[in-house]
Amino acid sequence: MSDAAKDVTPEKILLARREFRLFAGVTGSPRVRVVSSVRLFRQIAVQEGGGGDRVLEIGCSTGETTRLLAKTGATVLAVDTAEQLCSQVADRLKDHANVSVHHIDARNVPSLVKLMPHPDVVLVDVGGSAQLNTVSFVVRQCLMAFAPRLIVVRNTELAALACLIETVEVPLKEIWPFTPMSTEDESAMRLENLLAVSYSEKAESRVFAIRKLRLYEDLRARKRIEELTADPQPRVQRMAKAVLDDMNRRNAL
Ligand SMILES: C[S@@+](CC[C@H](N)C(=O)[O-])C[C@H]1O[C@@H](n2cnc3c(N)ncnc32)[C@H](O)[C@@H]1O
Repeated sequence: MSDAAKDVTPEKILLARREFRLFAGVTGSPRVRVVSSVRLFRQIAVQEGGGGDRVLEIGCSTGETTRLLAKTGATVLAVDTAEQLCSQVADRLKDHANVSVHHIDARNVPSLVKLMPHPDVVLVDVGGSAQLNTVSFVVRQCLMAFAPRLIVVRNTELAALACLIETVEVPLKEIWPFTPMSTEDESAMRLENLLAVSYSEKAESRVFAIRKLRLYEDLRARKRIEELTADPQPRVQRMAKAVLDDMNRRNAL
């Protein structure tokens, strides 16, 4: 065993996880399970997401998993980009008051947050053979927006990648002893994330970013809000102008 490997203690691994979570803007500390088989995905969904849980199901398709979850009594929000499938699933499960089905693109996270702000379990299946970048974008957005206890992802490419990872090299020498991220650093990191969201293709996400950016006494946040007053979408413009007026009023006091 190398000297560096001997240095890795369970406490340091916990610290590293915390630090990397902060780095990635992850809100909670969820377990993440990655599968490629749809049978296993459904099995885990029912085992882990039953009873009084709030379950967000991304990519409900024809509603096979949704139907199984409906029977457990869980509160389910199922979404899909295929409008017709959503209507069919909603109709099929209309007698289950615990299930709601919406035609939403999961990349539009603010819409999901509005409907289910605190899911206990998030199921992500935007296609077993969907590209890694598509899947990881959705997972990343969910990790930033929610603090579930579990995320189950079905995707073959991600499962293959996870299997190939032998170890994750924590840069021991450079970052230990840890200086946990200060409140200022944490706030700066969140600001960076919000600035990134303000460039989203989705108007709703840009509106979401403006609402949050207003809370920062920061020149870049203000500049970005100013830019968004000329956004092509009128509702983004309106929000940016209202926030800017409000900031100016507060500064004048
Ligand atoms: C393989 S199916 C899901 C199967 C489902 N888990 C089951 O157990 O039956 C993938 C679904 O993800 C949907 N989808 C793809 N991208 C999406 C996105 N960005 N947001 C929401 N749904 C998406 C597709 O329309 C498709 O219906």
